[in-house]
Amino acid sequence: MSQTRRPMIAGNWKMNGLKADGTALASDLAKLLNGETDPVFEMVVCPPFTLIAGIAEAITGSAIGLGAQDCHAADKGAHTGDISAPMLADLGCKYVLAGHSERRTNHGESDADVKAKAEAILASDLSAIICIGETEAERDGGKTMDVVKTQLSGSLPKSATAANSVIAYEPVWAIGTGRTPSDDEVQEVHALIRAELAKALGEDEAAGVRLLYGGSMNPGNASNLLALADVDGGLIGGASLKSEDFWAIAQSCDT
Ligand code: 13P
Repeated sequence: MSQTRRPMIAGNWKMNGLKADGTALASDLAKLLNGETDPVFEMVVCPPFTLIAGIAEAITGSAIGLGAQDCHAADKGAHTGDISAPMLADLGCKYVLAGHSERRTNHGESDADVKAKAEAILASDLSAIICIGETEAERDGGKTMDVVKTQLSGSLPKSATAANSVIAYEPVWAIGTGRTPSDDEVQEVHALIRAELAKALGEDEAAGVRLLYGGSMNPGNASNLLALADVDGGLIGGASLKSEDFWAIAQSCDT
């Protein structure tokens, strides 16, 4: 973690939660923040689309930021079942994930698709959290660095800046498995991402971009991961569904 980049602790709730669960979770987090308006970390929750409006209400007046898990690349039109970035902005979202590996795998999203979505997110004055990461086969084949580079350059919009874009490195094999890369391996990939960002955006801009680690982050491993030089927060799945675990991870930013 650096002194200059404000850490972000983002919860990706995925396809979990009915109205009562989501509202209770968000209200618990707001209570834990206890009126603090400017905590050391930036806390973001990304509920399923169905819960966004209710959560917006539950977190009103707290420092919790609202995010969504995906959007369509178009603003509106004949896209049955899809949700656009302007619709999310209208609900009070600040962030939208683009290119989560579950979208890439389950919905065949390519780097070009992810880039188009990220462009739509930025065009709506929202910030994009662009997700990249290798599969287990790619890691075993020694291709991690190549995969990460290719996904980053293919998914990053031209208008990306430190203020409007966050990159999440999520090794696919670490998601929901309880396994993580070693701290050195995480730092190595994050350093590569920052070096590639420097080529695309310039050194100064790249130095300000927050890089999140995601994949089985929990209260037990968060302190070590968040202490790494180029890890500026976490994108948390399973552990973000329990307020005490998510809060404990956020507290690890203080150490
Ligand atoms: P887990 O924290 O459940 O491994 O999920 C990580 C993730 O996919 C967040 O986007």
